[in-house]
Amino acid sequence: MAHLAFPDGFLWGTATAAHQVEGGNVNNDWWAFEHAPGTVCVEPSGDACDSWNRWPEDLDIVAGLGLGAYRFSIEWSRIEPAEGEWSRAAIEHYRRMCAGCHERGLVPIVTFHHFTTPRWLAERGGWEASDAPERFARLCARVVDGLGDLVGWACTFNEPNIVSSMGYRFGVFPPAVRDGARRDAVSGALCRAHRLGVEALRAGPGDFPVGLTLSMTDFQAADGGEERLERVRRTSEDVFLEATAGDDFVGVQTYSRDRIGPDGSLGPEPGVPVTQMGYEVWPAALEATVRRAWARTGGTPVLVTENGIGTADDEQRRAFVSEAIAGVHRCLGDGIDVRGYLHWSLLDNFEWVLGYGPRFGLVEVDRTTFGRRPKPSAGWFGALARANALEVV
Ligand code: BGC
Repeated sequence: MAHLAFPDGFLWGTATAAHQVEGGNVNNDWWAFEHAPGTVCVEPSGDACDSWNRWPEDLDIVAGLGLGAYRFSIEWSRIEPAEGEWSRAAIEHYRRMCAGCHERGLVPIVTFHHFTTPRWLAERGGWEASDAPERFARLCARVVDGLGDLVGWACTFNEPNIVSSMGYRFGVFPPAVRDGARRDAVSGALCRAHRLGVEALRAGPGDFPVGLTLSMTDFQAADGGEERLERVRRTSEDVFLEATAGDDFVGVQTYSRDRIGPDGSLGPEPGVPVTQMGYEVWPAALEATVRRAWARTGGTPVLVTENGIGTADDEQRRAFVSEAIAGVHRCLGDGIDVRGYLHWSLLDNFEWVLGYGPRFGLVEVDRTTFGRRPKPSAGWFGALARANALEVV
């Protein structure tokens, strides 16, 4: 039995994203994608978890567990429903959420873009529209003006590498394009949007760390895969890690590993269990990617902004998270400045193309009544946070 203590002030929290929990986000590109003829989405997001209305209950749960932070995203299409038209009521909604966090002793970690883009921007080219980065920076300026004084940490983008690769290279996110050159151009636009967003957020009221979050994978070279591995890392991670220069932190989000052969991903290794997402159960991936983010950025502080597992087996969740966190502890022991760990997710929610099948939540949501029921892993994670220590059996 080992007692792994974490540094004072280490942030323990949990995360969600607007489109995955709010419900009724009818005015963005994802809603359109979910309803398009022949869509790859298994079901539409619909009411999601009704968190647009039930957010106080969500915050009560997070605080009741004893966690110290809540990461959530704002929905651009609610704030700017038509180009240049701003909803004060929507900004006020998110301001109340930030205030609600403070009232409950939670640090609000606000993400300004989590995959969804307003229809008006999507209709005129999305991230390929030449002024999309400026439009995003303008959103950041507006929102920070309305609630910056209450922000704890700010993430400009959630996983811009997933937006460009899934949306423009693999065609499974909107706008469903499959073109490597277009993916690269969009990655460039997102990096530029990030830099403009950072400037806008720093220029407004409040004083909080600003960064972006990146989807990271523990890429491993199989025989002959070394060169391919370097190419994969370059396009999917390194261009974005380079764009974080000057940021206050880098958000690491890791779910698994991927073995790369000369022709690309080899998929799960026979014998290694897979999650509901189809990738390997590989908790050690978090440690490997935290180390990589730290090394590649030359020592930018790391916040684990997402980590978790899609599983119906809550005991498997506890074991997975425990192993991943033990890896974070080893990173700290080696002098890597990790500031916190945010579990994905608070709720079982809308898992994009896969709908409501995969279960990432610490809390189960009844799909008819929207009633919330914390799972045993929620109690376990809360106890860990309150003790600021992991007990390893
Ligand atoms: C995303 C989340 C998603 C999670 C689990 C991350 O890529 O930021 O929106 O639900 O992974 O797949």
